[in-house]
Amino acid sequence: MILIQTVEKLNEVLVRLRSNGKTIGFVPTMGAIHDGHIALIKKAKSENQVAVLSIFVNSLQFNNPDDLEKYPRDLEKDLLLVENYVDIVFAPSHKEIYPTEATEKYDFGELETVMEGVSRPGHFNGVAIVVKRLFDFVQPNKAYFGEKDFQQLTIIRKLVEQLKLDVTITACPTVREPNGLAMSSRNLRLSFAKRNIAAKVYGIIKRSQELETPVVKKIVDFVQTEVKKLEPIKLDYFAIVDGNTLQLVEFLNDTENIVACVAFYIGDVRLIDMVRFK
Ligand code: PAF
Repeated sequence: MILIQTVEKLNEVLVRLRSNGKTIGFVPTMGAIHDGHIALIKKAKSENQVAVLSIFVNSLQFNNPDDLEKYPRDLEKDLLLVENYVDIVFAPSHKEIYPTEATEKYDFGELETVMEGVSRPGHFNGVAIVVKRLFDFVQPNKAYFGEKDFQQLTIIRKLVEQLKLDVTITACPTVREPNGLAMSSRNLRLSFAKRNIAAKVYGIIKRSQELETPVVKKIVDFVQTEVKKLEPIKLDYFAIVDGNTLQLVEFLNDTENIVACVAFYIGDVRLIDMVRFK
């Protein structure tokens, strides 16, 4: 594994690998590596000759300065966690990615006017800016994203389609802690007890799938009522949406691709999750 911190060096190494016919699998992250990231890296390595991981806390996608400040950062620990799985770690400084102020504006239409788009204005523009730049630097054949961030995944697919980028986006299933809590870098900010409480939200959504009703309002009411009983948790949204358009559905038989997306606060930590209904 080699650590690269400049775009120039990355380019030099990747040009050589590409000219030797190597295929490149890319996993972009903001660090605080967990088993969900490791699963993405393993998949990237199994499908490509070279696996590149980026670690870059992208300030542009944080709408909350406190969240940015508290975002876990430990490059040395991250490097130890990934050294057996990845070939190149690209961990640039802010200046490498943004030598001048970033002014790009992307438009993802109704994909970004719902859920995270409502709660975190500007978030997806920040994600799109960094992902596009990272794709330009790495020029991967394939890039790997977790399904947990379902709206992000959908928007990145849209970005690739809109800009006709030559990269295949691969989605990987959410990896969960033994109690069911989706792996997330922000889990590091929770005590063991709080993680167990947060895991209950997933349990409630799983139970809602057993209600045997096609009426989405009934499922949403159930989840909202049950989550309200979980003391330190405050639900931001629970939405059952068409997995292609991200728009709300009324009945589970409306379409063949239906997912439930949830966001909630536990203390000042905001977590998201996703469960497939169909
Ligand atoms: O999912 C993440 O960790 C980030 O949003 C990403 C895709 C690395 C862009 O900063």
